[in-house]
Amino acid sequence: MNSIIGRRIIFVEESTSTNADLKRMAFELDEGSVLRAARQTCGRGRFDRSWYSDHQSLTFSVLLRPHLPVKFMPLLLIYPSVSLAKLLHSRQIPAGLKWPNDVKLGGRKIGGVLVENTVKDGKKNEVIIGIGLNVNQSESDFPLELAASAGSIFSATKNRLDQDELFHSIVKQLDQDYQDFILTHNFSQLIEQWLSFCTHLHDKVTVTINGQVCEGVFTGLSSTGKAILDINERSVLIHQFNHFEDKNAADY
Ligand code: BTN
Repeated sequence: MNSIIGRRIIFVEESTSTNADLKRMAFELDEGSVLRAARQTCGRGRFDRSWYSDHQSLTFSVLLRPHLPVKFMPLLLIYPSVSLAKLLHSRQIPAGLKWPNDVKLGGRKIGGVLVENTVKDGKKNEVIIGIGLNVNQSESDFPLELAASAGSIFSATKNRLDQDELFHSIVKQLDQDYQDFILTHNFSQLIEQWLSFCTHLHDKVTVTINGQVCEGVFTGLSSTGKAILDINERSVLIHQFNHFEDKNAADY
């Protein structure tokens, strides 16, 4: 199949947030367009948290129009994480995934994915997938409040990577996986691959449901990409909007 993601790549020196800017530009762009910024002044993560990045990070967003039934939308958060983990593993970088969207290495978060839907005429018809990946930072480059939790590929491996080459390889992997998993609705293989990179399968985790913190064991993913937790011997499906913590995070 012809490539979709990366047919057009727009590079800007500065963006407030590539997700926000791509959303604004989407009406004049084809599916698969990518907006990459050297710097973000107001990068965002899940739960509207701010996302730290600098010139040693990759920050970019992809525009998709996937015609996916709404219940499968959570898989759009799972799929880019699998692409990132696969690509890093192909370079002997043993990244792991924490549900729903964290990329981890050496016990620290090195990347994340933010998926946002644009609703038009009552239909979810556009999806913006934003990816942030810390590539070449040293530990001391991160702000103090992230010092204990954030890392980069360099801080874990001591190998500096060519950011442009890495970016283009990630775009290629995203394109391949979009066709292999999403367009072909091959969700079971996507989930299988995600689980193979998961850092907390069968671990005790906590999740906040309606303001209440519950403890359970993470046993897998549902066919639509929700987390399955055993809580008091009941299987409970957890949506990506619930706060989720794995208790062994420091071990990975
Ligand atoms: C998270 O872990 O909470 C998701 C972080 C996603 C950050 C990326 S950087 C590119 C894109 N633009 C944004 O403002 N956010 C995403």
